[in-house]
Amino acid sequence: MEVGLVHLVYSSRAAVEITDAVLAKIRDEGMRNNGDHGITGLLLYRDGAFLQLLEGTHDAVEQTYRKIHDDPRHTDIRLLFRGPCSQRTYSYYNMGVLGSAGDGSADPEILTNIFELATQADRPDARVETDAILGEMINQFIKLSRAA
Ligand SMILES: Cc1cc2nc3c(=O)[nH]c(=O)nc-3n(C[C@H](O)[C@H](O)[C@H](O)COP(=O)(O)O)c2cc1C
Repeated sequence: MEVGLVHLVYSSRAAVEITDAVLAKIRDEGMRNNGDHGITGLLLYRDGAFLQLLEGTHDAVEQTYRKIHDDPRHTDIRLLFRGPCSQRTYSYYNMGVLGSAGDGSADPEILTNIFELATQADRPDARVETDAILGEMINQFIKLSRAA
């Protein structure tokens, strides 16, 4: 077990046109930096919307999130969850990327489900259910990454 592990999920909207090339560039930057900082996670893209999970030590996740937050390629960044976690879900991916612009094989229905779950978790009255929703989102992430 890793001590001091945290995870963070945010959603955002694309501020530039997201082509395969743009998505591949974001993936390459993330793979390099996340590998250097012990960050694992997944980035989903669908119809102009991003959803990203980052996992790692508190300092590494906060530093990476701050950098991503200031990136002009996206806007309307909403922090959906941030908190301690007992283990990594994506221990093998520094930066898994799935989405309609990048990886056409991602099941669009599962992607839609994950984005809907994220919206539910963002409602103020959903706070108590956040853990359950995050668990379900992660299950869906796993399904999606296996299917791709
Ligand atoms: C949607 C989105 C997700 C990103 N995810 C990551 C990430 O997980 N890790 C990362 O280092 N950079 C990520 N980036 C890129 C950073 O914002 C930034 O451009 C990059 O880390 C700068 O790399 P450099 O410091 O090597 O120049 C992301 C950018 C966008 C738009």
